[in-house]
Parts: sequence; C-alpha cells; structure tokens
Amino acid sequence: MTTTLYRQRRLYQRGDHPAGRGLGQLALVPARTQPLVGLDAEALAGLASLYGSSCVTPWADRGEPELTERAYELLELSEDFEVWVIHWPIEGRLQLHDHGGSSGALWVVAGSLEEGTASGPGTYERRRIEAGRGISFGPEHIHDVANTGTEVATSVHVYSPPMEKMTFFASNQSGLAPERTEYRADPAWAP
Ligand SMILES: [Fe+2]
Repeated sequence: MTTTLYRQRRLYQRGDHPAGRGLGQLALVPARTQPLVGLDAEALAGLASLYGSSCVTPWADRGEPELTERAYELLELSEDFEVWVIHWPIEGRLQLHDHGGSSGALWVVAGSLEEGTASGPGTYERRRIEAGRGISFGPEHIHDVANTGTEVATSVHVYSPPMEKMTFFASNQSGLAPERTEYRADPAWAP
C-alpha cells in the first residue's frame, strides 16, 4: 500500500492537504438517512487491529529523520469509516478531546501510548496501551493521548462515521471546559 506522510499540519494550505481533499469528496456525498454499515466499537477495534498488524510500518523502520511533532497518514476514507496512522514523538500529546460524535478505536503498532480520561469533576485516570494492544470507544468518549515512553510510538486510529469535528477541553475542578473546536473543513485538519 502506498501512503503519503503528512507532518507539521500548519504548513499545508487548502487543497494541498489530502485530508482536506478527502473531506471535499465527503462533502459531495448526499446525506444518508441511515448508515450503510453499522460499525460499533468492537468492529472498529477489529479494523484497527487488522490495519495495525498488516500494513503499517513503525517510524523507527522507515528510515526517517528524528520525529519532533506528530506525523499522520490517512490510509482509508469511506462514507462509513476512516483509518489514520499517527506517529507520536517522545512526549508528544494531544489534549483532552471528543470525536464529534464518532465512535473509534486505537491500536498501538510500536512503542506505547497513555490514554487519559476525565470521567467527572476532579476525576482523571490514565492507562498505558502497549504495542500489540488497543482500545475502542463510543461516540461520547473524551480522552487525551500521549507518548510517555522512550521511543517514537506508531498507532492506528479508526473512526466511524468519519469525524467532522473535534472539540478540545481543559480539565479543572468543576469538570471539563471546552476550549476550541476544529472542523474537518479546516485546511489544518488532522485527528
Ligand atoms: Fe482521540
């Protein structure tokens, strides 16, 4: 499978970013009254595992220079789901966010990641996801993801339906406070 690597999202202009072009294609698809394929969290976990164990090369095996910020590849985009590969530099982190109502799954190919979830005011829990393991989640899930390990991590992310927006949150004693929302139509979009 031939893939293209994208990094430093802010460098891409509208029309140059394949994720943005993918959205343009999605925007042309008439709204459906019901999904063609129902992909629940279990099915998404299976897809993430399948992609992660079959067609993803860890960053360390790619002969690339040192990774300093997240790099990502869009592997698959359909009406029903999308598949991304994300490479996480050491200490790379994506702050607390939702998935715009999409369900999803994450599979770690190399290295390890930590997921943080805020289940209520003042409640914050973390769990480590080692290579060869994954998680899945429903449409209401809010989490952060970080590479707290000692090597670059590579992971596969599947979302269904394809995400249209993500809202980012700050966590404080009174709960989660929305900070900003990013939309797929934005040229800098990335999951
Ligand atoms: Fe996420």
